[in-house]
Parts: sequence; structure tokens; C-alpha cells
Amino acid sequence: MKRFPEGFIYGGATAAYQCEGETLTHGKGKVAWDDFLAEKGRFLGDPASDFYNRYGEDLELCERFGINGIRVSIAWSRIFPEGAGAVNPEGVEFYHNVFAECRRRGVEPFVTLHHFDTPAALYDDGDFLNRATVDAFVEYARFCFAEYADDVTYWFTFNEIWAVATNQYIEGVWPRGHQARLDLAFQCEHNMMVAHARAVNLYKEMGYGGKIGIVHSLEYKYPVDPDSFADIAAAKNEDVLQNQFLLDATFDGAYSAESLSVAERLCAVSGGSLVIEPGDMDELACAAERNDYLGMNYYQSRWIRAYDGPDVLHFNGTGEKGTSRFCLAGVGERVEPDDVPRTDWDWLIYPKGMYDLIMRITMQWPNYKAIYITENGMGYKDELRDGVVMDGPRIDYIREHLDWNLRAQEAGANVLGYFVWSLMDMFSWNNGYNKRYGLFYVDFETGERIPKASAYWFAGISARGQLDV
Ligand code: BG6
Repeated sequence: MKRFPEGFIYGGATAAYQCEGETLTHGKGKVAWDDFLAEKGRFLGDPASDFYNRYGEDLELCERFGINGIRVSIAWSRIFPEGAGAVNPEGVEFYHNVFAECRRRGVEPFVTLHHFDTPAALYDDGDFLNRATVDAFVEYARFCFAEYADDVTYWFTFNEIWAVATNQYIEGVWPRGHQARLDLAFQCEHNMMVAHARAVNLYKEMGYGGKIGIVHSLEYKYPVDPDSFADIAAAKNEDVLQNQFLLDATFDGAYSAESLSVAERLCAVSGGSLVIEPGDMDELACAAERNDYLGMNYYQSRWIRAYDGPDVLHFNGTGEKGTSRFCLAGVGERVEPDDVPRTDWDWLIYPKGMYDLIMRITMQWPNYKAIYITENGMGYKDELRDGVVMDGPRIDYIREHLDWNLRAQEAGANVLGYFVWSLMDMFSWNNGYNKRYGLFYVDFETGERIPKASAYWFAGISARGQLDV
């Protein structure tokens, strides 16, 4: 029997665009996803899980099921419909109401400022490749810190900078995306890290009493052949792009020589170079000392081998097994080992990767202070039968990840909480509504919530404060 530490957060995670609905009402401004999804005619961000109207019900469920923390994000364009300038009072009030309900229900809100939803006006002008977006983000953060100072103790600046960079500039699957532009991906990562640092520095200089950090999406990158230098180098390329470049900036406030040399080499593959503006590194260095914790999203790990052929970028989204391929010239090829199980969307299930990543952080960046697992969960084709959802594979997935998480804690890592992705079924960016992650099933026609078997199981973990493995 393994026990969780006192005060552990047994959380559920959400994101504004994926759960709120009411995307173009109540004064909310557009995000690039609105037109993108409408053009594709596939699935709309509305009504999503209707959290905008049903947050009271969701927080009541949290209280009943022992979920003592909720990750929510503020939709930037609900506060500033154009990204900057005029404020939308109805949007401001909405989040006050959500946070008040969190307090009433004894559910701690962990609040992210940006979860893939830059206001369209700024996105159309280059998103974070345009330094004007960095400035606008800092002003938006300033507003939120002041407005919600009494409501929010735990802040995150960004959700998954790597996902923004890779989906927009490498995989090209997000609105107006490009493929294989490694230079743009690294530039996006750097600029967003500067925006993060400036927001952290502002928060601390204003003397607010809460805490602040950032959420990174991490995947362990294993070389297919651990004895091959070429495979090790290929795994390092992906590692720098997704993990090390961002963790260096977060914890050291400086890019290591290894990160910089890989980044510069990969930028050159796309014919570009990384631009670091005067003052950027000072902001990063200051914020690294002030950062209170890391939010770590973990879903899977990767096995990489050397690759020099043409780019082949083909991804999940169809639900068909074995259809995803990622081969990037000069970077590497992702290989799916036969002995690693996969989800229906080809995501590799490898719980030990979470342990390996946490332990790496404790060793490579020992000043990390604390980690929250801010997302972990399994996309699954849940079926409602006779009013019940039996999602055994999800329970196994979460149990195994919690087990490795506890092993990392036993080995000395400071992990303060774990948030299941997701609290309730929500909209999935590239997969619409049939890829369900929630502890609570959502009937997307009626909005009704139904606790899945995993919700009852998770409630037991929270109530007993221990994992039965
Ligand atoms: C994380 C994101 O990367 O993965 C979430 O923070 C996202 O927003 C989740 O939904 C699962 O991804 P997907 O594509 O399966 O919905």
C-alpha cells in the first residue's frame, strides 16, 4: 500500500476552449480555432461541455468525488476580446463566479493564463512569433493578477509551449500551420518563454502572495538502439526541442551549451536562425529563481532513431491504429516498439516514462522546487451502457502512472499533486468529441454528466490517500 503525502492534490484538469462552450457569446472575442473548425466542418468548439453554464454542477461533482483541485484556464479573449484594449466585464465576472464556487466547494483552483487560445487578432498577426503578442500577454497577465488576486493562489502562465510550437510550425495541424519549420518552432518556444518570464517577474515584483509556474508537456525520448551514437543524437534532437530547451530556460534561466547547439543546428535545417533579443536572458534568469513549481503534463514517451530521408509527417486523428508517422530529416524518426501498448489513437502507454522524467528533473535541475502532474490521462472511446460507463483501461492507465509517480516520490522527488486529464469529457483539439478523457461522461447533446467507473475509483484513492497496487 503506498500513501500520498499530506495535502496532496487529487485534481481534475480542464481548459477553457475545450470545456466552456459559449465561444462567441457573452462578449467573448474570436480565437483562430473558431473559423478553422468551422471551415473544416468537422466539430465545433461549441457547446463543448457547456462548463460556462454548468460549472456549478461540475464543482459539486468535484466535492462529492474527493477532487480537491481543478485546473481551469482563463480564456484570454473572454477578458480582452481583441487581445488588448477594451475589457469584457461579463467575462471578468464569469471567472470571479467560478472561483467563488471553487471556494464554496473546497476545490482549489489552479489557473492557467493561456491554453492554446491566443485571441484571433493577435494570432493572425503572427501569434508569439510577433513580439507584440508577448507584450499583450504580459498586459493580460497583469490584469488577471490584479483582478483575481483574492481568488487565485496557484497560477500557471502557459500550457505546453512545445505543443504550440510543434503543432503550428512542425506538424502543421493547427490553424494556419506550417510543416517542418524548426526555426519557427524554436523561435516560438523562446518568445513564449520570455513572455512566461516577464509574467513571473511581474507577479513577484507586484508582491502578490500566491505562487506561479509553467506547464510543460514532457516525453522521455529513448534512442531505439541505446548503443548507437546516431540514435542517441536523434533522440537528443527531439529531447532538446520538447524538453531540455524549455527546462533549461525554466530552471536555469539560460540555455545550456548542448541545447543551444542542437537548437541552432536544427534551425539551420529549415534555413533559419534563433533570434534572442537584448534583455531576454535577464528576464529568463530572474524568473528562473522566482518560479515556484513546474506543471508537468505527461501522456507518453518516444523511441527515436536516426533518419535522413524525406519528411513524412502523418498523424493520429483518424482513430486508426498504426497510421501515425513522424520522420523529420535531420531530426529523427519515431518508432513504435512492439512491446509498448498503445491507445486507440496510437499514443504509447509507458508509465515508467513519467518516473524517468521526474527523476531526470530532480537530478539535472535540482532547484526545481516542486512538481505538479498537471495532466495525465487516457483518450478512450467510452460507451454509455445502461447508464453506466465501465472504463477499466483508463483506471489501469491512471493507477500505473500514479504508482510510478509514488515511486519517484519515494526516491525523493517533491510532487505535490496529480490532475487527471480530464475532469469531464471535453472537446479534443484534433479529434473532436469521440476521444473522451473524462472522469465524468458528458452527453454532448443534453450536457448531462455521468460519473464513470474511473470517477468512483479515483474518489476511493482520494478518500484513503493511498494507492492499492
Ligand atoms: C494536452 C493538452 O496536450 O493534451 C490538452 O494540454 C489536450 O489540451 C490533451 O486535450 C490531450 O490531447 P488530445 O489531442 O488527445 O485532446
